[in-house]
Amino acid sequence: MKTDFLVIGSGIAGLTYALKVAQDCPDKKVTILTKTQSDETNTKYAQGGIAGVMDFDKDSFNKHIEDTLIAGDGLCNREVVEIVVKEGVERIKEIIEWGAQFDKEPDGDFKLGKEGGHSESRILHHKDVTGKEMERALLATIAKKKNIELITHCFVLDIITQHHLGYLVTKSTTDIECYGVYVLNLVTNKIEKILSSTTLLATGGNGQVYRTTTNPSIATGDGVAMVYRAKGRIENMEFIQFHPTALYEPGVLGQNFLITEAVRGDGGILRNNKGEAFMARYDERKDLAPRDIVARAIDNEMKINGTEYVYLDCRHFSKEKFTEHFPNIYEKCLSLGIDITKDMIPVAPAAHYSCGGVKTDEWARTSIKNLYAAGECASTGLHGANRLASNSLLEAMVFAHRAYLDSVKNVENKKTLIAEIPDWKADGTSFPKEMILITQSLKELKLLMSDYVGIVRNNERLQRANRRLDLLHEETEALYEKTAVSPQLCELRNMITVAYLIVKSAEFRHESVGLHFNTDYPEKSDKIQNIVL
Ligand code: FAD
Ligand code: SIN
Repeated sequence: MKTDFLVIGSGIAGLTYALKVAQDCPDKKVTILTKTQSDETNTKYAQGGIAGVMDFDKDSFNKHIEDTLIAGDGLCNREVVEIVVKEGVERIKEIIEWGAQFDKEPDGDFKLGKEGGHSESRILHHKDVTGKEMERALLATIAKKKNIELITHCFVLDIITQHHLGYLVTKSTTDIECYGVYVLNLVTNKIEKILSSTTLLATGGNGQVYRTTTNPSIATGDGVAMVYRAKGRIENMEFIQFHPTALYEPGVLGQNFLITEAVRGDGGILRNNKGEAFMARYDERKDLAPRDIVARAIDNEMKINGTEYVYLDCRHFSKEKFTEHFPNIYEKCLSLGIDITKDMIPVAPAAHYSCGGVKTDEWARTSIKNLYAAGECASTGLHGANRLASNSLLEAMVFAHRAYLDSVKNVENKKTLIAEIPDWKADGTSFPKEMILITQSLKELKLLMSDYVGIVRNNERLQRANRRLDLLHEETEALYEKTAVSPQLCELRNMITVAYLIVKSAEFRHESVGLHFNTDYPEKSDKIQNIVL
């Protein structure tokens, strides 16, 4: 199959890009691939909202820029921060034109929420299901575009480069080029080639590498692993953001329900098992300090008191006020017997967001020619060492737009490679006899990452993680060589690669900064820099 623009991922980044190129190039074919249902994405689960300067009487671009830089702890690229904050407002207006609805005050102004690290109220939201609303609006607009084809249940296995034509490609190769992808069509169970002169990677995050995460099961870091295998550049993978307040539900592993930071923005108070509002002991911004600080404080309280969770106290909210902004959270808690007007909500940190990823420039270009990356899988320089809440939906739209602007240049002259790309080699493989070899390795991976490479790290834990990853890598590669590919096996393999990148980057960083805290190097160094693998 050949297409003009190939998009991997149907979250906010992939859909925004697809819409824009399809609108601008109506005679070109745009193909979106997604590995499960069209809306099963991190985007769909976004709760708090999207940050944007809307009220210029109280707020300003400078304030949003400063808040982002402070959260990023010295590692943000200031130029990129300015681009995202300033261009973001235009992107928000566009998605509103495409039909996304954000809550409004009776006078018609947007209701603006507040979250940790923001000096002003600037979060547009649709109750507590903002991502679902944005995804809905994007998919509905895409459905009207005749030149877009969205193919679901299509698992991308690898990016095709010169390597597949028999050339030696290493990290030092300067002109690596992307010709398209190999995919496992989960409907036909066949492996196909899809060729394109332009590919956008929008594969989202990697929270599934950890035992507890707010991310859905699709978030397995496939895009980052594929680019690493293709010898592209990956940056700052050690900065994994743990959301301070995932709902604590014993026995729930896979995807933990989020209690949005906006609840603290509206006045929710964190308390330990003794009922103490502990955040004042850690930061003068208390419950609304940036996420790295709040998550570490909770982790510390849990360790000191020997508990598996702390509480979020919302008992002082009126039921009307809470249900108006957070109807979904209210219902979820009630379904578990937690009446938020009488009971405190048990919460604990969970892996939430990957600040690092595929290294991109200011036009979303990766180190591989004809391959762009946007959204959570990309490392643009916006987040530095810690992402400011609600900046990721904004970043995804801004860089999807920039990828579009760059990729439609000279579109008429772009040629899809016609040379013989070999078929996927599956000789000598057979279907796995037992899934336990995959599922047990996955359990081990998640446990070791949560126990050794979590919120607080040290050199010994990282070394142990490394040794265990080596063994998992060796066993999984051996299995991969002799087994017919399946999403489960490929995701395991990708997650091991992503875990390795997180551990390696963490080992290289001899300091504590933002989300990376290593007790053997508790200080921030004066020469802070990005780690590129
Ligand atoms: P996603 O939306 O995750 O989409 C990834 C796509 O890639 C999916 O379609 C998936 O199927 C596809 N894919 C992946 N691998 C493959 C493969 N191998 N083959 C084919 N397809 C593949 N951010 C905010 O700014 N504000 C918030 O309020 C907010 N709340 C959040 C709440 C939760 C619970 C979570 C989990 C995240 C939240 N975030 C929030 C973060 C934000 O939602 C994500 O960073 C963002 O939505 C990522 O968008 P994306 O387009 O990059 O990827
Ligand atoms: C939340 O609603 O707390 C999540 C916001 C984000 O991840 O940016």
